[in-house]
Amino acid sequence: MRSELTFSPLAEIETELLAVLAADSQTAKGAEAKPLPVLLTADAAVTAAAAALLENGEYKAGANETVLLHAPAGLKARRLLIVGLGKLAKVKAQGVRNAAGTAVRYTKPRGIKELALALPEINSETLPHAVVRAAVEGAILGDFDADTYKSDRKDVSVERFRLAAPETADNAALEAAFNEGVIMAESQNLTRSLVNEPGNKLTPTVLGQRAAEMAQAVGLDSAVYSTEKLDELKMGAFRGVSQGSAEPPALIVLRYEPEGVPEGAYAGPVLGLVGKGITFDTGGISIKAAENMEKMKYDMAGGAAMIGAMRAIALLKPKVRVIAVVCAAENMPSGSAQKPGDVQTAMPPAPGKPGKTIEIINTDAEGRLVLADGITYARQLGATHLIDAATLTAAIGVALGLVNAGVFSNDDETFARFEEALKVSGEKFWRMPLGDEYADLIKSDIGDIKNTGGRHGGACTAAEFLHVFAEDTPWIHLDIAGTAWIDETRPYIAKGPSGVAVRSIVEWVRRY
Ligand code: BES
Ligand code: MN
Ligand code: ZN
Repeated sequence: MRSELTFSPLAEIETELLAVLAADSQTAKGAEAKPLPVLLTADAAVTAAAAALLENGEYKAGANETVLLHAPAGLKARRLLIVGLGKLAKVKAQGVRNAAGTAVRYTKPRGIKELALALPEINSETLPHAVVRAAVEGAILGDFDADTYKSDRKDVSVERFRLAAPETADNAALEAAFNEGVIMAESQNLTRSLVNEPGNKLTPTVLGQRAAEMAQAVGLDSAVYSTEKLDELKMGAFRGVSQGSAEPPALIVLRYEPEGVPEGAYAGPVLGLVGKGITFDTGGISIKAAENMEKMKYDMAGGAAMIGAMRAIALLKPKVRVIAVVCAAENMPSGSAQKPGDVQTAMPPAPGKPGKTIEIINTDAEGRLVLADGITYARQLGATHLIDAATLTAAIGVALGLVNAGVFSNDDETFARFEEALKVSGEKFWRMPLGDEYADLIKSDIGDIKNTGGRHGGACTAAEFLHVFAEDTPWIHLDIAGTAWIDETRPYIAKGPSGVAVRSIVEWVRRY
């Protein structure tokens, strides 16, 4: 989908479909308080074209509620689509993101190849650039469908999207916001396309190739290593997970350097992005039940989020050094697989220091094992601040439903920046607790730690496991197991891989 920002008056836009947003301005409550839909545009021609429709009460402007008018009088557009945002007083940029996605997903299956969306004029506390970004992001995210493997794939993708903004004193600022939104959403869609790939097509090696191709395209440094390097670095935890598979592991390293800093002169923070890249998780010897196991192809969503985030970082060019480490492996049962009761030695935190010993209780708790070594490696590469993303535990979905993803942190200041990032990204994360009481549950009788902490608080004990390797480095852990895959289509986003965390991670990076 090509996207453009235009400042043409709405009535003048020649398009197959012009979408405008509406909201319910009723402030009174109770049964007598009927919805009062209002259009969020000052354009007289559009207002006139939609007047009769808004008067008769059958359209309520509920969130993502749509109504279509053909041949609207006074407009050059052939169709006028109205998309609701719900209560006017509660309208936020995230609602605009969803409504833009709704407009595209309305257009797409009807074979309409092109549309324009009027930028809504909403309350002053939501800044116009935030609304521009949300609108273009929603449109590009809405255009994605996980249908690449359909042999009769009807290519119904929308080819052209225009966002129509009223002229402002600072059109350049809106252009900049628009371009940011394009980068963010296209990067998130890259993540989604990786997550959608089945395990037989996207092995750890192929994930490494895809990451390297992306890096090449946007000018990032990349290196993809395998078994030998894991052995050289003494990554016993990561290696133990991969040893049951015929597919070799991939240790993917992507580096971003801020421009214009003379060699050796960089003195700022170094952000380490660590992703879980299990391209298929059978559970290993502690094998999973057959039901729903096919979904475990999305167990590399955290790693894919880091690859998408690095693309956006390379294009947005923040003034901070960033290193991404993605630990990719397949978790399989076989004659060479690790077994419950095995003890693995994790990567040493520094040369000459011993690595932590880990008693493997359950081979299905493999994500924390690959991340343990990924976190240590990122620190060894100089990371001063860490963020990891992983489809780590089913328990996070039990705790938070499939609504919020979990976020854990050992540092309030670092977490505060992530919270700021969420305000821009619009993504839902909920802070979960760490604590010594959880850490006590993963002490091992025969080694330093064990890889499960029992049924209760499973997401928290998993996070404490990672904390052992992050130590005192300011660190954020994102558990996206419940939110990286969407089971039901919503009006604004297709079912399948969500690409969650990409926008928030990038926004967090931009805060340094
Ligand atoms: N990849 C799974 C977690 C998962 C579950 C992701 C459902 C997405 C949807 C992870 O490797 C896993 O198997 N975790 C176990 C840990 C347990 C053995 C301590 C779990 O959550 O059951
Ligand atoms: Mn598992
Ligand atoms: Zn897993």
